Amino acid sequence: MTAPLIDPFARPISYLRVSVTDRCDFRCVYCMAENMTFLPKKDLLTLEELDRMCSTFVRLGVRKLRITGGEPLVRRDIMTFFRSMSRHLESGALDELTLTTNGSQLERFAGDLAAAGVKRINVSIDTLDEEKFARVTRWGRLPQVLRGLDAALAAGLKVKINAVALKGFNEDELFTLAEFCAARGMDLTWIEVMPMGDIGNEDRVGQYWSLKDLRARLEERFTLTDLAERSGGPARYVRIEETGQKIGFITPLSHNFCESCNRVRMTCTGQLYMCLGQEDMADLRPALRNHPSDDAPLEAAIRAAIGLKPEGHDFDYSRQRADGQVSRHMSHTGG
Ligand code: GTP
Ligand code: 5AD
Ligand code: SF4
Repeated sequence: MTAPLIDPFARPISYLRVSVTDRCDFRCVYCMAENMTFLPKKDLLTLEELDRMCSTFVRLGVRKLRITGGEPLVRRDIMTFFRSMSRHLESGALDELTLTTNGSQLERFAGDLAAAGVKRINVSIDTLDEEKFARVTRWGRLPQVLRGLDAALAAGLKVKINAVALKGFNEDELFTLAEFCAARGMDLTWIEVMPMGDIGNEDRVGQYWSLKDLRARLEERFTLTDLAERSGGPARYVRIEETGQKIGFITPLSHNFCESCNRVRMTCTGQLYMCLGQEDMADLRPALRNHPSDDAPLEAAIRAAIGLKPEGHDFDYSRQRADGQVSRHMSHTGG
């Protein structure tokens, strides 16, 4: 038996998020600056190398694999990778193979994803207003994403919508977004904006809309019941009694959830970030590349990295400034 991955705070690590590209076809204002420099393609792990990395994590006890980006579906030939990973679902080693996407390419790929064993996906949509959508994503177009959503639902995928709560931007859409999701049988999760990476002239503290406040507003109209169920990530869910709909809250700022962290994230170059909110990382690529037919050094490098996982992030806006900021963008590690 292989010993499971346990971090210094006795947290079992069973969830790997893999960013397969740092590129994206959108430029969301809270995520990227307008002019981004991306990694040269030659620095990326190949799909075969990504496969070997992920398969090693699975062997070490990872049971949930989430593919992220940038936008994962813009990585060339990414379906080959999904199809290959699905063998771990078939063997029972993996409970879930999934992705977080901006939805722009779903119209094309939803059927292939379902065929590869993906059951549930998370799609980021912060607003249902076309003009606002174009503004917040800079490059995105809402109708294309909505067609992608329809394709995903038609392919039988369960969809969860992620919306970043942005002060003065989508506050007025609290109920319309909920209704939109309820009408399509989709769950909705709100996320507090985190201070990650330089985003040009945008003001982080000004963007921040606490989910405590958002929840209080929901409660003015609905009865909310806290649910014990988890989806394996940091979201905590409530049920709206009047509609039966589930709403999730991801609250790194207003209510820290690090004590139950079960995840690490790997970049498309093979760097392992043990915490979303810290700068520490371990480069797994040398152990992978220097030992093409021996997995022992890679396993040892992964175990050593997990042994360095920090207790949690230091994000804090309470002093009216973005404390605990990390230098890399969300697109580097995929959230
Ligand atoms: P489920 O499987 O649906 O529970 O997904 P998830 O919440 O794990 O994944 P998703 O990609 O939808 O994550 C949504 C967002 O939650 C991410 O983009 C991050 O912004 C945030 N998030 C996920 N994990 C962490 C974490 O460990 N720390 C912090 N601070 N935020 C996280
Ligand atoms: N804070 C919170 N969420 C963010 N996302 C991107 N940047 C940030 C940020 N700074 C979200 C996206 C997507 C997920 C991958 O991360 O909207 O839902
Ligand atoms: Fe792209 Fe997602 Fe970042 Fe938006 S939040 S720019 S869709 S990676």
